[in-house]
Amino acid sequence: MSMKMSFVLAAAVACPLAFSQPNPALLNNKKAFVADLMGQMTLEEKVGQLRLISIGPEMPAPQLADEIAAGRVGGTFNSINHKEQRPLQEAAIRRSRLKIPMLFAYDVVHGHRTSFPIGLGLASTWNFEAVRRTARVAAVEASADGIDLTFSPTVDIARDPRWGRTSEGFGEDTFLVSQMARAMVHGFQNGSPAKRDSIMSSVKHFALYGAVEGGRDYNVVDMSPLRMYNDYLPPYRAAIDAGAGGVMIALNTVNGVPASANKWLLQDLLRKDWGFKGVTVSDHGAITELMRHGVARDEAEAAKLAIQAGVDMSMADQVYIKELPGLVKSGQVSQRDIDNAVREVLGAKFDMGLFADPFLRIGKAEDDPPDLKADSRLHRPDAREVAREALVLLENKEKTLPLKKGATVALVGPLADSQVDMLGVWSGQGVAKQTVTLRQGMGNVMGGQGKLLYARGANVTNDEAIVKYLNFLNWDEPEVVQDTRSPQAMIDEAVATANQADVIVAAVGEARGMSHESSSRTTLDLPESQQALLKALKATGKPLVLVLMNGRPLTLNWERENADAMLETWFAGTEGGNAIADVLFGDFNPSGKLPISLPRSVGQIPTYYNHPRLGRPFTPGKPGNYTSQYFDQPQGALYVFGHGLSYTDFTLSEVSLSSTSMKRGGKVEANVTVSNTGQRAGATVVQLYIQDVAASIVRPVKELKGFQKVMLQPGEQKTLSFPIDEKLLKFYDNQLRYVAEAGRFNVQIGLDSENVREGSFELK
Ligand code: NOJ
Repeated sequence: MSMKMSFVLAAAVACPLAFSQPNPALLNNKKAFVADLMGQMTLEEKVGQLRLISIGPEMPAPQLADEIAAGRVGGTFNSINHKEQRPLQEAAIRRSRLKIPMLFAYDVVHGHRTSFPIGLGLASTWNFEAVRRTARVAAVEASADGIDLTFSPTVDIARDPRWGRTSEGFGEDTFLVSQMARAMVHGFQNGSPAKRDSIMSSVKHFALYGAVEGGRDYNVVDMSPLRMYNDYLPPYRAAIDAGAGGVMIALNTVNGVPASANKWLLQDLLRKDWGFKGVTVSDHGAITELMRHGVARDEAEAAKLAIQAGVDMSMADQVYIKELPGLVKSGQVSQRDIDNAVREVLGAKFDMGLFADPFLRIGKAEDDPPDLKADSRLHRPDAREVAREALVLLENKEKTLPLKKGATVALVGPLADSQVDMLGVWSGQGVAKQTVTLRQGMGNVMGGQGKLLYARGANVTNDEAIVKYLNFLNWDEPEVVQDTRSPQAMIDEAVATANQADVIVAAVGEARGMSHESSSRTTLDLPESQQALLKALKATGKPLVLVLMNGRPLTLNWERENADAMLETWFAGTEGGNAIADVLFGDFNPSGKLPISLPRSVGQIPTYYNHPRLGRPFTPGKPGNYTSQYFDQPQGALYVFGHGLSYTDFTLSEVSLSSTSMKRGGKVEANVTVSNTGQRAGATVVQLYIQDVAASIVRPVKELKGFQKVMLQPGEQKTLSFPIDEKLLKFYDNQLRYVAEAGRFNVQIGLDSENVREGSFELK
């Protein structure tokens, strides 16, 4: 008898048919189905469903299968192939008393096997259809690997780029991030998480994680209700309204109470006000951390606080399984609290289609892909197309770009030939070796014309302590690998290379791990090793093009002054090198726009464009004392939100409004004509901002309220119409009522957030 046969038989004996199980006759009625199943569960089995285990170090696989068979596990994360998942699902279906399927989760953040640009890059496309498509591709790939649930999208508003996780989200703006949140959920779930090639989306990190004090990861968050409601909460809500089946709870405190113990957040706001009906999951170890936060004396109290607050599933800690049964028996936690959580977990499994078919995404062994990492499993064309749209042309003096394919180009810089960095962090199952570096991409696009010279020129940093820190992060192998030559020797080689070329392309920025969880920085300059390289290159007098690879805004003052062109590429993913080369050589005309402003210095943070109005604002052109400014530096961001150049030129007409007044329930249309006055076809993003001139509370100087991306041939023009209705004018007032107040509104339309054409109307 084969091993497999004997396992199946043993399983059948261990689970005689006399036991009850999920009732297929009720599969068309979620509520009845879940209630029927819960009616059969013991307290221990219920608590087991709340346990989400990190596969690997937390528990070896054979022990895990036994725990599952004993009904003590609801799901795992980090198992990403059928061979791992199948025995676990079999343990659940064939060996456990109630045959409740396991769920398999994973961080599918900006792609799965194919890596797309990091969140900031996706947001730079200002193209929600493209962003939806990346999540769709990711879902197709992840579901083919047996994954049912992703912890994504990350929609934390980020206004302090010292925070390393700025890279994961979609930037500083509430409206843009909300659009991206919606697009991602639609892409992952595609109408229903029950489809075989959908995965359920759980939005994170609820809530306000992006506002950690000082940008230091895991730090406290303390925020006024007005800012919370108007600026930080809407993106989570947008994801939920788009149907996200899950919510991951943030690690931080929210006004004194950790999110994982925050009843107001998880019940009053999320469930009662917003009507969320899905499952909530704690972040890694967050329930245990309630003790370190100092709100729980011991594990029992931590479990009690979390379950009573509304944390349904506990990720990677033992507290629920250890403590909840006893707490219920002693009357400290009600059966109702447990049932509420279990109902959501089973409901999510139902919604994922797992009760209808527990092997829906695992399939049969004979259909397992022979090579999980096969290149044929990638979606390279999608990755290249989206990555090209994610690139932001910050600067292009004297039309330095595009480059000529016949030119001799000196490509230098520590990131020019790095595969792993191009992936960015949270790159799922992206494989470095399958990633196209800039050096490879430029070679591909030049196609044998011209000459491509290369020198590394510098290490990302010469600071060994930083290298050690970065390599301590959980990579399989050290990924910041130092060139052991002296910095001067590397620079000399780069300069010699540059001297032979017509133009220099320098790929500089951060190692990917510098913009990651737990990777906060106190400076945002390029590391000194790279600054020294750039200075030496500048001294050659050759045109200098910077290709920036980084996961957060950097401070680029010297670079702005001295570079002839700068292309912000974030971390562009599997096809990054090809996509960047497409733009450098003009095969693709850049159209990306910044989703976050780039500050001049750390001291100036925050520089978000939509800050509240002030009594003593700094007024450009009217310097003087007693206005809000830093006197030792120019005011405002170095590159503003919404900025991004093209190889062609666009102009905007004046704004014309369909009416100068709006009735309640009515609409005003703002029209503007955009013209391509340059020599090339190109796309741009026309942005609509609104300013509430006088309101009952202080309102932002302006807020993004719409945008349209348009493609125009040279000489072509298009008139765009932006409908403005009362809903677009609403905000949360002092009593947290969602209102549009009568009065004047300024309408501003521009190709970035600063240079705008204005109109105005009155809401009656
Ligand atoms: C911790 C991170 O904060 C979260 O974003 C992630 O989903 C979990 N770990 C699981 O990997």
